[in-house]
Amino acid sequence: MPQPLIDINGLAKTFGPIKAVAGVSFSVDKGEVLGFLGPNGAGKSTTMKMITGYLAPSAGSVFVSGYDVARDPIGAQGEMGYLAEGAPAYGEMTPHQFLNFVAAVRGFKGVEKERAVAIAVDRTQLAQVLHQSIDTLSKGFKRRVGIAQAILHDPPVLIMDEPTDGLDPNQKFAVRRLIASMAKDKAIIISTHILEEVDAVCSRAIIIDRGAIVADGTPGELAARSRYQDAVTVEVNSTDAQGARKALKALPGVNDMLDISLDGDMRGGGAVLTLFPEPGQRLIEKVSALVTERGWKVRSLVAESGRLEDVFRACTTADAGNGGAGQ
Ligand SMILES: Nc1ncnc2c1ncn2[C@@H]1O[C@H](COP(=O)(O)OP(=O)(O)O)[C@@H](O)[C@H]1O
Ligand SMILES: [Mg+2]
Repeated sequence: MPQPLIDINGLAKTFGPIKAVAGVSFSVDKGEVLGFLGPNGAGKSTTMKMITGYLAPSAGSVFVSGYDVARDPIGAQGEMGYLAEGAPAYGEMTPHQFLNFVAAVRGFKGVEKERAVAIAVDRTQLAQVLHQSIDTLSKGFKRRVGIAQAILHDPPVLIMDEPTDGLDPNQKFAVRRLIASMAKDKAIIISTHILEEVDAVCSRAIIIDRGAIVADGTPGELAARSRYQDAVTVEVNSTDAQGARKALKALPGVNDMLDISLDGDMRGGGAVLTLFPEPGQRLIEKVSALVTERGWKVRSLVAESGRLEDVFRACTTADAGNGGAGQ
């Protein structure tokens, strides 16, 4: 087995009494896009700052492409691109000046430097604002300047803290497509609290809560832990609502029923009933058979699949931060 590009062991950070990161271990291989999920204050940004060598850990180690970040941060940073939270520093510079500056710091010279900047500008679609000072750019463009500097040296490891934060839906789509296009040859970690992003670009997701890993798997594996996995939702007319409630809840294999009553609303009554299976039970055939047998007027009958949102809510705390101070 070749070494993973990112290898993290027992990583922890305390700020005085606050345990921001409480000992996390994981590794990321080439070809993986890891979604780093968690509520505000969970410890995502702090973990990323330690991975990239911008914050010294209280305990634990990070290896990037075999470089020990604590002992050789310069070597490790050569292997990494980092999109920090918020806007890039040097707001008085234009993107053109800023990217040339970053390229020079990265060791590019002459035509090679021009080429590296041009490719990054093209991939992040920055051409139209190249000569306007960064301070005056919209949040979306600022974010893309940050992404451009992160990918400038085409590093094997990318660490991106909420890359689509502040982007409009089209820009979000473009950034996700860019990340997906780079995924094959790199190990990428993106933090996000947008769950659809995980389905869109991540091959794997880790959920952290209060500094600790509470789930780790493919998006499909995580969603399968949702109570909506294999659940069935049926929408019945008002005349059948009462009978359907009773009969469906009593079906063998039904563990629980969620009843969103439509009584009195403009759709003329009726009920939306979601049936949650007992472990290992399939309900869709039984439910549709019962519907046919009773002749209920059904507006819709849906076989649900697991919802990542549901899993996220189940394994994280609503306010993981310490008074919500963290971002
Ligand atoms: N420099 C700091 N000093 C004190 N507390 C901090 C500092 N940075 C982060 N924290 C705290 O650490 C916790 C994790 O923050 P952070 O890593 O920013 O979370 P996330 O990125 O998941 O929202 C929060 O409680 C936050 O208030
Ligand atoms: Mg953060």
